Amino acid sequence: MTIKFWMLASAACVASASPGWAQAPSANDVTQADARAAVTVKAMQPGEKIVLTHGIMPLPFGDKPVAIPADAIPGAGYVAGIARLGVPALKETDASLGVAYVGGIRKDGATPLPSGLAQAATWNPDILYAGGAMIGAEARAKGFNVLLAGGVNLTRDPRNGRTFEYLSEDPLLSGHLVGAAIRGIQSNHIISTIKHYALNGQETGRKFVNSEISEAAARESDLLAFQIGIEQGQPLSVMCSYNVVNGAHACDSDHLLNTVLKGDWRWKGFVMSDWGAVPSLDTAIHGLDQQSGAQLDPKLFFADDLAAKAKADPQWAARLDDMNRRVLTAIYAAGIDKNPATSGGKIDFVKDGEVALEAEKQGIVLLKNDGNVLPLAKNAKRIAVIGGFAAAGVLSGGGSSQTDPEGGPKASVPLGIDGPWAAFFAQHYHGTAPLAAIRAMASKADVTFRDGAFISEAVDQAKRADVAIVFATKWSTEGKDQADFTLPNGQDALIAAVAAANPHTIVVLETGNPVDMPWLDKVPGVIEAWYGGARGGDAIASVLFGETNPSGRLPITFPARASQLPRPVLDGYWDLETNFMGDPPTPATKLSANYNIEGSDVGYRWFARKGEKALFPFGHGLSYTSFAADGLKVDGLKASFTVKNTGARAGAYVAQLYLTARGGEARERLAGFARIMLQPGESKPITLTIDPRILADWTEKGWTIKGGPYSFALGEDAEHLAAPVSTTLKSKTWKD
Ligand code: GLC
Repeated sequence: MTIKFWMLASAACVASASPGWAQAPSANDVTQADARAAVTVKAMQPGEKIVLTHGIMPLPFGDKPVAIPADAIPGAGYVAGIARLGVPALKETDASLGVAYVGGIRKDGATPLPSGLAQAATWNPDILYAGGAMIGAEARAKGFNVLLAGGVNLTRDPRNGRTFEYLSEDPLLSGHLVGAAIRGIQSNHIISTIKHYALNGQETGRKFVNSEISEAAARESDLLAFQIGIEQGQPLSVMCSYNVVNGAHACDSDHLLNTVLKGDWRWKGFVMSDWGAVPSLDTAIHGLDQQSGAQLDPKLFFADDLAAKAKADPQWAARLDDMNRRVLTAIYAAGIDKNPATSGGKIDFVKDGEVALEAEKQGIVLLKNDGNVLPLAKNAKRIAVIGGFAAAGVLSGGGSSQTDPEGGPKASVPLGIDGPWAAFFAQHYHGTAPLAAIRAMASKADVTFRDGAFISEAVDQAKRADVAIVFATKWSTEGKDQADFTLPNGQDALIAAVAAANPHTIVVLETGNPVDMPWLDKVPGVIEAWYGGARGGDAIASVLFGETNPSGRLPITFPARASQLPRPVLDGYWDLETNFMGDPPTPATKLSANYNIEGSDVGYRWFARKGEKALFPFGHGLSYTSFAADGLKVDGLKASFTVKNTGARAGAYVAQLYLTARGGEARERLAGFARIMLQPGESKPITLTIDPRILADWTEKGWTIKGGPYSFALGEDAEHLAAPVSTTLKSKTWKD
C-alpha cells in the first residue's frame, strides 16, 4: 500500500489529513462568509462600525483597570457584539496549549497539552489536529469563542523564552503542524488566531526590538511558516506581534499586513493586535483591523478617533467598512453566530487527558540509549527517582499560555517579582507525577524519591539502586529569554554525582528549550520530555518502561555551544533590565536583531551552511527498534522510497527528506516528512509531494526554481543523510 500524502489547499502537503479535518471552515466557507459580511456592513449604522474594531482585557490586572461588561468571561479579551444585527460578542482566551489558567482567577481548570515543542516533536499533524480540537472544545465549553492560539514563530533563537510555546526552526514542519492545530481548534465553531505575525524572535525588548531581515529571507523562512499555516489551517484571525520589523511595528506594517498577508496571500480574515501592541490610530490604515486589550495601549484609538477619521475621509470610511467586514467574515465562517458558545458546557477531562497523553507519548525524544539501558526492566528491584518535582507533576511554561488542570498546579514556585503581572510568572508543576507513574509501572520494585536538594542524599540513594532516574527541569516563560543553555539550580552537578554513583543513570529532561549536557558522556540514557502536559508523568513512565516505543524527533537543534549560533549573545539580554512586558526603558532606547546574518537559514540550515555539528541535530531521535529507509527516487516534485522496521518490536518512524544541493551548490532544507507506524519486519512504500517553495528563491517577481540539478537525501536527522539522488528541474517562476 502506498501512503500518499495529499495536497491540501494550494500547498504541497506532507501531512496525512484525517476526515475530521473537513469540519473546520474551508477556504470556500471563508469566501461565502465574506460575501455575507459585506451585506451586514451595508446594514450597519455609523455608531455600530466602531464596536467590532476594539476590545478590552476583562481582567483586574494592569495599571489601568477597565469596566468589565457583565457578559465578559475573565480571560484575555472581550469585544462587544451588535445585538441589533445578531452579531455576538467575542470572548477570547489564550492559547496554544489549552484554555489559560489566568492565575486561577476563574477558579476553573483545563487540560494542558504538552508544550509546542513536544507536540512538534511528534512530526504528526494528526496529533496537532487532535490537540487543537480538544482545547478548542474546552474553550467553547467555557463560553469562549476565540482561542488565541497558533503560535508558530520559528525558533530563531533557541533561548527565546517562548520557545516552549512554538513548534520548530523549520517553516515546512512548523507550517503544516500549526495548520493542523488551527483546523482542529476551528472545528469547534470558534475562531483561532495564528501568531505572532511576524519575526517575533525574542522576548528581550519584545515591544521595540527591530527584527532586520531581507524580504527574500523572510518569505523563505518565518513568513513561509505563516503562509503554509494559513493555507493548511485557514485561521480566521492573525495576531500581529509586538516587535518592529525593518523599522515598522508589526501591527503598523503596511507591508506585512496589506502587501503580504492581505495582498499576496489574499487572506480574508481579520488582524487583531497583540495586547498593548498598538502605537497609533494610523495602524488602521496600515492593515490592523482590531485593537485588542485596548486599555494596555496609550489610547483607545479604534473607537471615536477612528469614527471621526472615517467621517472626514472617504479612504478611512472604506477602510472602516473593510475592518468590520473582515471581523464579520471570521464570525460567519466560524459559525459563531449560529452556534453560540455558552459557558457551563460539559468537559470530559479523562477523555481530554488521553489526547494530551498520546501527544506526549509521541513527542518524547529518546536522545541517548547506550547499551540499551532503556527500556527499564519492569522487574527492576530498586529504582532511585531524584529531583525535578517528580513527586508533584511535570513542569510547564509561564506567561499567557499557562494552562493548568482543575485544581490548579500541584506545585508552584513564584518568581518573587512584584508588579501587576506577578500572578503570571511562577513555575507550575502540574498533571500526573512521574514518581507515581513509575511506581505503578514497576509495582514490584522499591522506588525511592529524593528531591535532589542535597547531592549527598541523591548519591546515597543512587548507590543502593539498580537504576537511578534524575529528573532535570528548566523553566521558561513569556517575557523573559534564557541567559544561557545551562540547567539551573546545580542540576548539572547533581546529575554528574548520581552518574558517578550509579552507571545505570537515566536523565529525564523537562525543558522549554535546548540545554547543555556537560555530563552526557557519563550518562547512558537521556530522554527529552519537554513540558509534558496533563498526563506527562504517565507518558514518561510509559516510555521509560517500554510500554511506548519512543518516536519523537527534535524539531529544534540542540547546539553544542552558543558560539555556533548566528548571534552567540542574544541581542539586548545583558544590556536591559528584565522587563516582562518588553517595554523600552526609555522612549529613545533602541534594540535590533540582525536576522540577515543567517537570513532564511534558521537552525539546522545555519549549522549545515557553517559546517557546525550540533550536540543533537534537528530531526534526531532514537527508538527501541530499528528502521531502514531506502530506495529513494525523485521525479520532479515526487519523492518515493520504502521504510522497513528491521527490529523486533513495533514502532513509529519519522521519514525525513532533505534537499541537499541545487545547481551543484550545497543547500540543506527539509523538503518533506512523514510519520509511519510499522510492525516488526513490515515495510511500507512512501510517496511525498515536495512543496516547490522549499526549492525556490523568492524575488519580487515571485518564487523562482532555477533550472538544473537538484539533489535530495533521506535523513535520520539533519546531519545524518543517506547518499543523495538527483533530479533535474526546469526553471519556473510563479506568484503566490
Ligand atoms: C500576550 C501574548 C499573546 C497573548 C496575548 C493575550 O502578551 O503575546 O500571545 O495571546 O497577550 O493574553
